[in-house]
Amino acid sequence: MSDAENFPLVVDNGNPRHIAIIMDGNGRWAQKRFMPRIIGHQAGAKAVQKIVEYCVNEKIEVLSLFAFSSENWRRPAEEVSLLMKLFNATLQAQIKKMHEKNIRLLCIGEKSAFSPDLQAKIAEGETLTKDNTGLTLVIAANYGGHWDMCQAAQKVMEKIVAGQIESSSITEELIQQHLSTAGLPDPDLFIRTGGEQRISNFLLWQLAYTEFYFTATLWPDFDQQTLVEAIDSFRHRQRRFGRTGEQIFNQAKSSL
Ligand code: FPP
Repeated sequence: MSDAENFPLVVDNGNPRHIAIIMDGNGRWAQKRFMPRIIGHQAGAKAVQKIVEYCVNEKIEVLSLFAFSSENWRRPAEEVSLLMKLFNATLQAQIKKMHEKNIRLLCIGEKSAFSPDLQAKIAEGETLTKDNTGLTLVIAANYGGHWDMCQAAQKVMEKIVAGQIESSSITEELIQQHLSTAGLPDPDLFIRTGGEQRISNFLLWQLAYTEFYFTATLWPDFDQQTLVEAIDSFRHRQRRFGRTGEQIFNQAKSSL
């Protein structure tokens, strides 16, 4: 018998504070319709808008979307170039609307690999929305979890070399403060669409205690209804953070 069966709890975790999504399946969505893959990515960008809208309305604090991984450069050059254009055009079209909706945009990843125009567009969006207090929309672009940990280690090392900190002061908190997501809560709910069940080098450090939800739905078909299903699944999970089911059970009982 599992711990959860021995110590049953009617759990309601409430809404997740931070949802992280790998938006997989755009290419297959297009191929099923005998269309070029980029049409799937365009449909994927429309799905992004709906999901962002839902998160704003539901007062979710952070939504992180994996738009382009460090490994996606390995795709055919034409697809990479079209994805960059789509990213640029989406930012162009959405920056003002995001600002109006009080959304704070944050792009994480190695941005120096992008064209100067795209880098400028990202900087414009981040600067315009930096003081907004609604949804924080994190776009991971040219991002990899390994990269994130390396760049954090480099920043910490620079401080040690400059004599600002001792190596003995390296703690989990210190590393966390130097990750690209510094200041944000870790994801509570991770969703991957498209049927694959892996993390693909997304927020590796940050997903340590995240609840995972996998669905075969292809990203362009992912809508508010499918998001609600994922959130419902999250709400009723027993989150133990290393403790036993008995401890969680007793803690819940004593708080009644
Ligand atoms: C994975 O599907 C998806 C991507 C690599 C790109 C994601 C981009 C978008 C959803 C559109 C733009 C987003 C923003 C935030 C502007 P895949 O191509 O690997 O699909 P497949 O597994 O079916 O081939």
